[in-house]
Amino acid sequence: MTAGLPMPVAAQGLPPRVRIHEVGARDGLQNESTVVPTAVKAEFIHRLADAGLTTVEATSFVHPKWVPQLADAEELFPLLADLGDVRLPVLVPNARGLDRAVALGARRIAVFGSVTESFAKANLNRTVDESLAMFAPVVTRAREAKVHVRGYLSMCFGDPWEGPVPVHQVVRVAKALLDMGCEELSLGDTIGVATPGHVQTLLAQLNEEGVPTNVIGVHFHDTYGQALANTFAALQHGVTTVDASAGGLGGCPFAKSATGNLATEDLVWMLEGLGVESGVDLGKLTATSLWMADQLGRPSPSRTVRALSPKE
Ligand code: HMG
Ligand code: MG
Repeated sequence: MTAGLPMPVAAQGLPPRVRIHEVGARDGLQNESTVVPTAVKAEFIHRLADAGLTTVEATSFVHPKWVPQLADAEELFPLLADLGDVRLPVLVPNARGLDRAVALGARRIAVFGSVTESFAKANLNRTVDESLAMFAPVVTRAREAKVHVRGYLSMCFGDPWEGPVPVHQVVRVAKALLDMGCEELSLGDTIGVATPGHVQTLLAQLNEEGVPTNVIGVHFHDTYGQALANTFAALQHGVTTVDASAGGLGGCPFAKSATGNLATEDLVWMLEGLGVESGVDLGKLTATSLWMADQLGRPSPSRTVRALSPKE
């Protein structure tokens, strides 16, 4: 398939290059009710890497009853051993998860906190502070083993139970995750309610409180069609790590109002147009998402995937 590309026209004040943190195989698939065969997941991840994605979140070492779709982490991870240069982070909530991940040779993990009490309870069966206490020894042990640690923050802009989320709640959890040793943060708009001014305000406040932009990644959901506008606002602020999910797969099994993640193809289309490098081959990526849509038996929600699909 030959993908079209937009005409590159630079905009002021953007970084020259962005690293895409691809979450389709983990965040994208975790909400699928039909279990995807392990071999299909492995092929998905290989195809994403072949499309030029250098960070491909692979799976989660969580309780298999909580996320049955990812219960095959032990089977999947060894199938990725040939992807030497690709970063393959995995989600780990606790010591048991770290043991499982490290036993398979994982070199990058992510703990995943919530900035709201309601989602902390729904997602981790803990309060916010109890979850931070659960993560602290995991992060310490991971860093001692030279394992890279990302810290997710969910519900940074709004929460389905609690409504709008005050910026200071996000700042508190961000600082706690950095203080315990996380090397990178990902600000999650888990239910997709953020708008660009809110993004800029949160980023400015984080900077003011001592959280530098170079440790911040952004993770937008497209529920209200704002994910790309929010990403652009973050890029203007200097953010260079953007999470996205191939084909726009995703949602969250513990937050019913969460719909798809920002589609990686939509992001790459915008970056190509802006002349911002991502290293991703849009044609290969789109072909991968069309193949995955076939596996899942329904069309991709990504506008770019649909626009670039071969027409009947
Ligand atoms: P719990 O029920 O409180 O667990 O769940 P526990 O600590 O009381 O342990 C109960 C049993 O589970 C024990 O077994 C443990 O060994 C076992 P028993 O002794 O009874 O036989 N257990 C485990 N087994 C395998 N792997 C483990 C593990 N941990 C305990 N890691 C727990 C607490 C954290 C485990 C649970 O709540 C959980 O697994 N939650 C994960 C939920 C999840 O993955 N959610 C999706 C993440 S997506 C997200 O957060 C948003 C994000 O995508 C950003 C965005 O989109 O905005 C990051
Ligand atoms: Mg997500």
